[in-house]
Amino acid sequence: MRTTPRTDATVHSWSPPDLCGLDFDPFLARMLHEEPVARIRLPHGAGHAWLVTRHADVKFVSADPRFSRRAVMGNDVTRVAPHFIPMDGAMGVADPPEQTRMRKVVAGAFTARAMRRLRERAQQVMDGLLDAMEQQGPPADLMALVHRPFPLAMVGELLGAPAEDWPRLAHWSDTVLSAAVGREASEQAKAEIAGYFADLIGACRSGAARLPRQLPPGEEAPREEAPREDLAAVLADGIDTGRIGFDEAVGLAALILLGGTHAPDNNSANMVFALLTHPGHLARLRAEPELVPRAVEELLRYIPHRNAVGLARIALEDVEVGGVTIPAGDAVYVSYLTANRDPEVFADPERLDFDRPAFPHVAFGYGPHYCPGATLARMEAEILLTSLWDRFPDLRLAVPVEELRWQRGALIRGPEALPVRW
Ligand code: HEM
Repeated sequence: MRTTPRTDATVHSWSPPDLCGLDFDPFLARMLHEEPVARIRLPHGAGHAWLVTRHADVKFVSADPRFSRRAVMGNDVTRVAPHFIPMDGAMGVADPPEQTRMRKVVAGAFTARAMRRLRERAQQVMDGLLDAMEQQGPPADLMALVHRPFPLAMVGELLGAPAEDWPRLAHWSDTVLSAAVGREASEQAKAEIAGYFADLIGACRSGAARLPRQLPPGEEAPREEAPREDLAAVLADGIDTGRIGFDEAVGLAALILLGGTHAPDNNSANMVFALLTHPGHLARLRAEPELVPRAVEELLRYIPHRNAVGLARIALEDVEVGGVTIPAGDAVYVSYLTANRDPEVFADPERLDFDRPAFPHVAFGYGPHYCPGATLARMEAEILLTSLWDRFPDLRLAVPVEELRWQRGALIRGPEALPVRW
């Protein structure tokens, strides 16, 4: 039965717990089933916000222009982290049409051709990582040897950052995306990221790399004049052609770095953990490798990707959501996690089921802020899940499940280490 909170409804204080494995946050589950549009107060910031949990309502709020990301800037919204994570002017806190304009420029680095190039590189990189793991011998920490370096290499390639810089990029990204480090360290890491990308994009603008002449559709440049189509070059071109400002370009590169490392690192580790702890599913996947893309979609739905909630939106006018009027000026959070467990959309949602007929999950968000890295993330997951068991058919956890340690104070959930044997 649908419940309708009143505007004087209880404000639930929610201190998101550090969860283990793929456990689902009990507060989120309760809200989905008992109070799908609720008022919450998180550990930091001021006042209260709304929490929207059902699939249809989450999609509605994420796509409706009356809910603004831009209005969040400078607003001390109740939140999980002590510091506010996005950089001013960044795409994550912009609204259409500015946000659409930035997305169009970024799309130049995610073309089908760029993805084909990355897929070839991805297999080479993965093979190299698995070679190193084999040489090192069991037990091995998959987190250190595969789940972190693989997406880092992919996003490094995508950005056009030289390989020797990748460890620095990883360190900054970890610092910014940990709720536990505090404001000062986070701000410093953000400043270092901004300085780094200002140099990288600046070097492209000074002529170190130009975009190639426009080619007719379907025609590829000869190898000797192969274009640089990495993000730094694409952004430099966006600045030179007046489609984007310099600071915006730096913010975009930073956002892609942050999105392209932490999310797939942890999500892919959780996928492997899910398979190692669901041996029947794993055996089926090994027997039917053509099932991998569907399995990836179901794992994306099933895995509680993050702790708590992401960035809020602000209601620009009174808007009714799920039978509740959200007043103008109030902050609203959506939960993509609960939307993916909504029983009205997914039968038996707590079950990992590779035979689900369709996959309208929102693991990559919905609406204008839909994850631009979704194709890359899917490709990384498919290569990982195929290559790992091809190389190590007997791969298994090296310690009992209860001994695995899970990250604390993290925004995105994942194991600290994933020790395996084969
Ligand atoms: C399994 C891996 C991933 C998951 C589960 C994931 C999930 C998400 C979600 C849920 C959002 C939307 C948040 C919102 O509503 O604002 C998002 C946005 C974003 N993601 Fe991802 N992501 C993943 C991988 C990646 C990768 C590989 C990249 C880059 C290479 C990336 C870059 C971004 C960026 C830049 C945004 C902000 C988009 C905007 O605000 O317009 N993500 N991601």
